[in-house]
Amino acid sequence: MERDQRSPVIALTDDTWLLVLTGAGVSAESGIPTFRASDGLWENHPVDKVATLPGFRADPALVWRFYSERRAHAKRCSPNPGHLTLAAVERQLGDRFLLATQNVDGLHRKAGSQRIVEMHGSLWLTRCSDCNRPPFADEAEYLDGTVPGCKVCGTSGRPALLRPHIVWFGEMLDPDDLQRIDDFAQTASRGRFVFLAVGTSGVVYPAAGLVRVAARLGAETWLANAEPPENASLFRSFLQGKSGEILPRLFSLDGNPLGCAGLP
Ligand code: OAD
Repeated sequence: MERDQRSPVIALTDDTWLLVLTGAGVSAESGIPTFRASDGLWENHPVDKVATLPGFRADPALVWRFYSERRAHAKRCSPNPGHLTLAAVERQLGDRFLLATQNVDGLHRKAGSQRIVEMHGSLWLTRCSDCNRPPFADEAEYLDGTVPGCKVCGTSGRPALLRPHIVWFGEMLDPDDLQRIDDFAQTASRGRFVFLAVGTSGVVYPAAGLVRVAARLGAETWLANAEPPENASLFRSFLQGKSGEILPRLFSLDGNPLGCAGLP
């Protein structure tokens, strides 16, 4: 890994295909807490109680309170220049762009990103913990100990519980999502393939393994992160700092040549 102290630019040539992986760090400058910082979400909330199926079965009210607080907080947050830059780059590249995010906060969509795979689900979707009803849009908050029930199904008159559409520890990611990322990478490898990871500690798989997949397919591998993450050595170029500052420069958006609305 080269730690790059210059101000390099990823030129968006006609044959450039860009796969971006984002993590909690990209939303930090919007005021959303990351997970593994000393004051991060997992420091103050026991993972096994709020982010596992057994935890939900044991205390669904606690789990709903946790995600309701996150909904309430995320509603008040706005995309930062990192999110806005990625949306602007997508407008330029069209189908030669894909954003795989581990974030559930919805800020990439708020910024205008459309070609997006939300690998770990979404704070803004709810599903039934029992029946096959598809996930549905939901911004409701359950802060008072209420646990919502499914209106579609019901066992012996008692409806099953609704749950947040979040991939919890011990659960599988949606295979269609992984296939979409893989298909994109395979197609990208026929052109100039660039892989960029932003704001992620590189410890949660399969997201942390995408850099290996990309490198095997011949991609240029870039990393923009506040600190060197676990898998930093797998990247060819590492830019250390805040993504809201690095990304506009990395795509030469300082002068706003891609027409990125909302950038300073
Ligand atoms: P982490 O909290 O593990 O890591 C966030 C990373 O962002 C750290 O490496 C920070 O150094 C970096 N960072 C912080 N502020 C930054 C900034 N302004 N600019 C750039 N980088 C910054 O979050 P994730 O890697 O996203 O899963 O965590 C992965 C998954 O673990 C999450 O999706 C979540 C969690 O358990 C689920 O909930 C399923």
